Amino acid sequence: MIILDTKEDYKNYINLLKSKGEIISLVPTMGNLHDGHLSLVEIAKKKSSKVITTIFINPLQFGKNEDFASYPRTMKQDIDKLKKHNCDILFAPKSKNEVFNNFDDLKNLKAGPKGNILCGKIRPGHFDGVLKVVYMLFQLTEPNLSVFGKKDFQQLYLIKQMAKKYFPKLKIISAPTIRTKNGLALSSRNLYLDKTSIRIAPLFYKILLDGIKNLKNSNNFEETIKYITANLEKNKFLVNYVSFMTTELEKLKLNTSERKILLSSVKLGQTRLIDNIEFN
Ligand code: PAF
Repeated sequence: MIILDTKEDYKNYINLLKSKGEIISLVPTMGNLHDGHLSLVEIAKKKSSKVITTIFINPLQFGKNEDFASYPRTMKQDIDKLKKHNCDILFAPKSKNEVFNNFDDLKNLKAGPKGNILCGKIRPGHFDGVLKVVYMLFQLTEPNLSVFGKKDFQQLYLIKQMAKKYFPKLKIISAPTIRTKNGLALSSRNLYLDKTSIRIAPLFYKILLDGIKNLKNSNNFEETIKYITANLEKNKFLVNYVSFMTTELEKLKLNTSERKILLSSVKLGQTRLIDNIEFN
């Protein structure tokens, strides 16, 4: 695996790949790689001739009181995992200047109203920061395709919209959420869960699944949200939001045939968990 940490070396290498006609896929990450990330690499491998993974803990997407300083930095283990999964190139910028060089270009890049709901409401500015770094990585790499997980559904939606506008030839691939055997969606932040919380955490997904069953019987979104919230609170989750929407992140109307999604964010102790389930 080729490992690069400066923009200059990276750009030169990309130009070489392009001159050879390689189909390039990009898997942006913040490191602390788990099987969810590695499944993105596997999907990318099937659809391209060269897979690039990036590891960059993007300061712009963390709020003032969030975990930027303590976010797990596990570069050595991450490199081993990427090698095992035959990733071709790792770009791990050594400083933020290697990513955000022409920062002025990005001033006006905003996630807009759909970046201010759900997770964006509890993390103001978060999605603006995500879009800025992903935009820069797309601009540097000019990949043919890029893979993102459905676990971060709102992020995936906003990246798709941004790509449609600024990188119309780029294909964004949505990858299914990878879960532990007991249903907990894999996330780098699961590492923060203590012994008690790790036992409770899988209930999050189970309660959401049960909520969808409840909706199918009641056909009442508000009652079902109350039912899910009460169930979560009974199990010591602090609820940030529980929301039914269309998969276009629009308000749901009753009896619509549109594809639907249940999205939720909770806190368990100090750890924020998010999950979602799509259904018809
Ligand atoms: O999902 C993530 O890990 C990050 O938000 C991303 C897309 C790599 C941008 O920093």
